[in-house]
Amino acid sequence: MKLDFVTSNSHKYEEISHYLQEKGYQCRWVRMKYEEIQADTTEEVSMASLNALENLIDGPFFLEDTGLYIKSLNGFPGPYSSYVMKSIGNEGILKLLEGMPRDATFITVVSFRDQKGKHQFRGECKGGISMEMRGKSGFGYDPIFIPDGEKKTYAEMTLEEKNRNSHRIRAMESFLSYLQEKS
Ligand code: IMP
Repeated sequence: MKLDFVTSNSHKYEEISHYLQEKGYQCRWVRMKYEEIQADTTEEVSMASLNALENLIDGPFFLEDTGLYIKSLNGFPGPYSSYVMKSIGNEGILKLLEGMPRDATFITVVSFRDQKGKHQFRGECKGGISMEMRGKSGFGYDPIFIPDGEKKTYAEMTLEEKNRNSHRIRAMESFLSYLQEKS
């Protein structure tokens, strides 16, 4: 089975297509940039993007939106993760967290449109913000995020290691369970 994934982010495409291939699915990259709305939750941002694209794309397709929720900052940057990365970046987050507890959760919401309608699948990964940036792989907040039970940041991991229990792959697992149930 072939699944169309809309994203302009090559890292997201690599992680997801690698996982889908392992599970026996093909992933077609619909390489498209789209406007993301600003909203209070990652679910809303992800669904708004699906709604904005539904008339532009034929057939079933999915996309995803991700946010980093830092507990001691009341969930900030959460749905503002993209803007915060562009404005203050990882250095800014490390400064904000000086002397603060560092628990954080990554949340990914996959939104999928098929003949039956629209569906959302959520994946979370709990962890913490490192004391300094570490590692060169991955993207975004990867150099400052350490998943629970690990010593390395995501940016110090190979794609296979990050995929072992990432927020993105957990959302994809739930998506594939839905596809397998309905087939
Ligand atoms: P979006 O889902 O592309 O809107 O992502 C929001 C922000 O979080 C962007 O700045 C991304 O670079 C960052 N981001 C998304 N997914 C990940 C991830 O898996 N690791 C690190 N940063 C991420």
